[in-house]
Amino acid sequence: MAKKTLVIFGITGDLASRKLLPALWNGFLNGRFKDLSIWGVGRKPWGNAGLHKNAREVCEPKDEKAWQAFEKKLEFFRVDVEDEKEFNGFCEKLDGRSDLLFMLATLPSLYEKISARLGKLENKGYRRLMIEKPFGHDLKSARALHAELAKDFGEEVYPMDHYLGKSAVRNIVVLRFSNPLFEPVWNNQYIQSVQIIQTEQQGVGHRAAFYDETGALKDMVQSHLVQMLARVAMECPKKWVPAEVAKEKAIVLEALRPSDDIVFGQYAGYEKEVGHASNTETFVALKAFIDTPRWKGVPFYLLAGKNLESRFAQIVITFKPMHYNVPALPSTLTITLQPEEKFILKVNLKRAGESELEPFKMEYCESCEIRPRSPQAYEVLFEEALEGKKTFFTWWPEIEAAWEFVEAVQKKAKGKKPLTYKPGSPIPKAAEKIVDWKEYGE
Ligand SMILES: NC(=O)c1ccc[n+]([C@@H]2O[C@H](COP(=O)([O-])OP(=O)(O)OC[C@H]3O[C@@H](n4cnc5c(N)ncnc54)[C@H](OP(=O)(O)O)[C@@H]3O)[C@@H](O)[C@H]2O)c1
Repeated sequence: MAKKTLVIFGITGDLASRKLLPALWNGFLNGRFKDLSIWGVGRKPWGNAGLHKNAREVCEPKDEKAWQAFEKKLEFFRVDVEDEKEFNGFCEKLDGRSDLLFMLATLPSLYEKISARLGKLENKGYRRLMIEKPFGHDLKSARALHAELAKDFGEEVYPMDHYLGKSAVRNIVVLRFSNPLFEPVWNNQYIQSVQIIQTEQQGVGHRAAFYDETGALKDMVQSHLVQMLARVAMECPKKWVPAEVAKEKAIVLEALRPSDDIVFGQYAGYEKEVGHASNTETFVALKAFIDTPRWKGVPFYLLAGKNLESRFAQIVITFKPMHYNVPALPSTLTITLQPEEKFILKVNLKRAGESELEPFKMEYCESCEIRPRSPQAYEVLFEEALEGKKTFFTWWPEIEAAWEFVEAVQKKAKGKKPLTYKPGSPIPKAAEKIVDWKEYGE
């Protein structure tokens, strides 16, 4: 019997198909998850054959021998967790097993119910619980969720933000704290602004009902964007242990406050997709500040939106111009997460024989260099959780601080109707009044 078991609730859902199964397969090819059984739970009448068929479709294996070995790990369990008898029957199968890692890729409204039952298991090894965002829908519900899950799993809850599993995000602190080039200038004396952007080309699609309750601010800013911001802005922890890293991230997020520059947008046709009139924003751009000595006065621009011209995620650090009598563009450091994971440093130089300064790029593209099997974000996070490492997970004080920031934005934006933008359009003009987003980027 495999020593560890990963149990995915929601194996028949969108997240499991698009992200979790491909990440597990990729990890298996990378030599991970050898001693792991993977149990998938859902209500559809799939059986093992159905799960294997779906997994093959979404993983698109090229190596048949390896696939056969991987497939043997995958077992399907048809369970409605709202049916007490059925769920108890499933849990009895888990009682005798050893280490158990649970992943809740299912409806957030089921998290507490599932956790309460799993908390009563009598397995022999550890019990850990990974949950996907959203972690509540506001500060109050996030606190309540934490309290409920902690009753069953104590400290063994792993709230995940898959951006933290991305190599480019993990490397932000490496870049900052292991290169004397950056840390001395990483402050308000030298940095003019920080921009964090995530745009998508897709609209809300089949997630319309969920999205209409959520919106871009809660869906993207509360999670991915502030997590990236925390990595950019945190102080160096006294020790590189997960709790100290989390403490520093929370301090930064607690000091984050929005300015009055906030733009909400909604793409034309959204209301038709959700089936009713709605003020939910599918786009948000805002300016915020961090009240710490390092960052006082430096604007942090956050932007997230759906149904826009292009899909990209990036952080742009713009340095202040130097005070020599030479016209020069600001130097920038851009960290892109999508479509590629890259670090791009733009500096002023002169071309041979020319007298004018020009911006030149120095670039490292991690995802291009280590293809084809570069570790996927979920792959890394599964491995970390199986080993009990929490460095790349979010901690509850950070989650709470992020909700406090979101609530402060909501308060400032209260009563504002989102502007309408054309699907597939560039960043809406009103957001350009906050900052010239086009000036930056690659
Ligand atoms: N999809 C994404 O890209 C994405 C991104 C970020 C976060 N998330 C979060 O990840 C979670 C899952 O999202 P999703 O998009 O995969 O949702 P989804 O496609 O709606 O899938 C929900 C899953 O939950 C299962 N389920 C629902 N009720 C159940 C019950 N009573 N008993 C057992 N299983 C039940 C469904 O099983 P059946 O279909 O078999 O009934 C299905 O497998 C949500 O918390 C979501 O907010 C998703």
